[in-house]
Amino acid sequence: MVLEEKKIPLRDGRTAVLRSPSVEDAEKLLRFIRKASGETEYLLRYPEEWDIPVEQETEWVERMRSAPSDMVITCYVDGTVVGNCQISCQTGIKASHRASIAIAVLRAYWGLGVGSAMMEALVDTARSWGKEILELEYIDGNHRARHLYEKFGFREISRRPNVFKCRDGSYQNVVYMQKYL
Ligand SMILES: CC(C)(COP(=O)(O)OP(=O)(O)OC[C@H]1O[C@@H](n2cnc3c(N)ncnc32)[C@H](O)[C@@H]1OP(=O)(O)O)[C@@H](O)C(=O)NCCC(=O)NCCS
Repeated sequence: MVLEEKKIPLRDGRTAVLRSPSVEDAEKLLRFIRKASGETEYLLRYPEEWDIPVEQETEWVERMRSAPSDMVITCYVDGTVVGNCQISCQTGIKASHRASIAIAVLRAYWGLGVGSAMMEALVDTARSWGKEILELEYIDGNHRARHLYEKFGFREISRRPNVFKCRDGSYQNVVYMQKYL
């Protein structure tokens, strides 16, 4: 599915654009996720794990645009990708009342309202699709993310220990949250 362009004011006075990425944006998206992955310990992969061909990313963008129950929403400032998020519906008769989300913003743009604007777009999308529950997981210790999620009405449901093991040998626990729409 595709979100049409929407302009949003940032807290520093600039204007950002939210829209689904087009295939021409594939390279920019890869640059974004490699950078974002190196800026925080709270994303799922290391930057080099995103060392994939542009063609593969282009196919993913195409697939997301035409998927009936997925949507990618990207945030652009002056043409640069500064944030990205995704909503994916669960499939199957017994699970299709739920959709899950994931979100990331470049460090230089944290605190400007990009995360909140993308979250609002994700919630609106889930409601327009008639979903009942929006769900997400985040890595324990990510207080900024938790603040954002609680601001939007998500509540912690459960925790899973030692889901990720970092290069330095430390483990990361995962927190599962839900929001009723
Ligand atoms: C989590 C993330 C998406 C938030 O995006 P953002 O664009 O900074 O979000 P916003 O600017 O809309 O809001 C940030 C909020 O966090 C608050 N905040 C800032 N630092 C904080 C901290 N250390 N602890 C708690 N809250 C904090 C801000 O005050 C703001 O709250 P407010 O809207 O009530 O004023 C972004 O920091 C990010 O991408 N982090 C790295 C990747 C990541 O962790 N993704 C989530 C994986 S589950």
